[in-house]
Amino acid sequence: MSEQLIGNIMNNVIARVRAELEYAPGCHDFDHTLRVLRNAEKIAEELPEANLQIVRLSALLHDIARPEEMASKGAVCHAVLGIDKAEQILTEFDCPKLFIPRVCACIGSHRFRGDGPEPESVEAKIIFDADKLDSIGAVGVGRAFHFAGRENARLHNTEQEAINSAPYSREDSAYREYLVKLRLLESRMLTLPGKKLAAERAEFMHLFFRQLNREIYD
Ligand SMILES: [Fe+2]
Ligand SMILES: [Fe+2]
Repeated sequence: MSEQLIGNIMNNVIARVRAELEYAPGCHDFDHTLRVLRNAEKIAEELPEANLQIVRLSALLHDIARPEEMASKGAVCHAVLGIDKAEQILTEFDCPKLFIPRVCACIGSHRFRGDGPEPESVEAKIIFDADKLDSIGAVGVGRAFHFAGRENARLHNTEQEAINSAPYSREDSAYREYLVKLRLLESRMLTLPGKKLAAERAEFMHLFFRQLNREIYD
């Protein structure tokens, strides 16, 4: 594909994704998409077998159906609906037909949790890791507090209080998110560069919550 053609498609996709996600709630807004795009480019730099155009388009479109999932209160899966939306958008912008199923496969497997399609291609593994990376490290801590604040949860609580509570409750603190989810993400990374970046970010995150416990409970 010529540089100019892919440049035009990319610009059109960026404008569309920005319009759809600009006002999405903080943890999954357009800024999240841009951070995932940067993470994906960083990982792809070390994996020359990956097609960078597929990686970029998939990163940009991976959460395109988030607003529908939120509006349906979780009844719609954004990874599943995202496949249809991405296909429509890429077709509308005259993306070469060969690219579309490859991008859609990345979107369909980006939130793999043991069910649904597993990331198989190198590009799909990169998108999976790039998305998880945004939940680890300083950004992950920031997003966890952002989410807890929106849900009116406590600033901090003990491990007991956090673990023995329900999601969306007053005890659904950033620390609960860390204990039940974020601290485990490092072990789920699929690419070597993704694992390295995750280990570095996770170290900071563990340190942050240790310090928080020390300041409040010691
Ligand atoms: Fe997602
Ligand atoms: Fe995402």
